[in-house]
Amino acid sequence: MSLVDVSEGYESEFRALLMEFDALLVGRGYGRAEVVSDESVARRFYAVRHWVDTDAAERCHRDAEVQALTLRIYQIARVTHVVNGVRRPGTDRLPIDERRARVEPDRRAGFDRRATDVGRPAGDRRRDRDRRVGPRRLREHAGEVDLVAAARRAREHADAAFSHFMVGAALETADGEIVGGCNIENATFGLTMCAERVAMFKALSEGHRAFSRIAIVTDSETPVPPCGACRQILWEFGGNLEVTLANLTKELGQHRLSDLLPLPFDARLL
Ligand code: THU
Repeated sequence: MSLVDVSEGYESEFRALLMEFDALLVGRGYGRAEVVSDESVARRFYAVRHWVDTDAAERCHRDAEVQALTLRIYQIARVTHVVNGVRRPGTDRLPIDERRARVEPDRRAGFDRRATDVGRPAGDRRRDRDRRVGPRRLREHAGEVDLVAAARRAREHADAAFSHFMVGAALETADGEIVGGCNIENATFGLTMCAERVAMFKALSEGHRAFSRIAIVTDSETPVPPCGACRQILWEFGGNLEVTLANLTKELGQHRLSDLLPLPFDARLL
């Protein structure tokens, strides 16, 4: 289900595109698309896609004509993916890194624990919260990708030789993939790239165009929100993302990007 804010003057074009979209989904046996308008917010719609099954949803996402239609919708509307149903149950298909991300919130796993040397003496079995994330526990948490854990892992690759301020980000795409990013500094300082933009540019370069959440992690007690430049890029490409701020052990806050970037400048104003 997506929340769609259509640019002024494009409502009828949007409705026509949605009808075309629905016809395509029905015609190719992927499912159907439905649109409901919000009577209290001008030009706001809720677009619901019903898939026949997960296979159909995946085939639909790969379909070049569907992609072209989606792009035309993106040109006249801001689309925020609210709920995404295209996730396969089970963990079998997930790459190992993503499976590692399926840990309970705040559980410190793998690298974090080794880095601060808080493991038990060699050979001693880890118990309860200290247990390693094994396949059984992953299965118990199928479907809950821990975005904060993914951002913590991404942070380990930060190249912050000048500021020593390591940042990690994990961006969730509308179809449930996780794309990590870390800050990368260089000797001229000015070419530094923040973790959030690294994650977003990586995702865009791999063809992702719709996003639902981002988590940002630093080693600090005070929540570190995205800088102004990142807010702009996240807004333009990610829409009204849910933004979770966290440090190495706990979550420090949740925001909507529209609250972090009120009165935004974007393509609708051009
Ligand atoms: N940084 C980020 O990666 N994201 C933020 O949201 C704030 C700042 C990085 C940029 C630079 O490498 C370091 O943190 C210090 O500013």
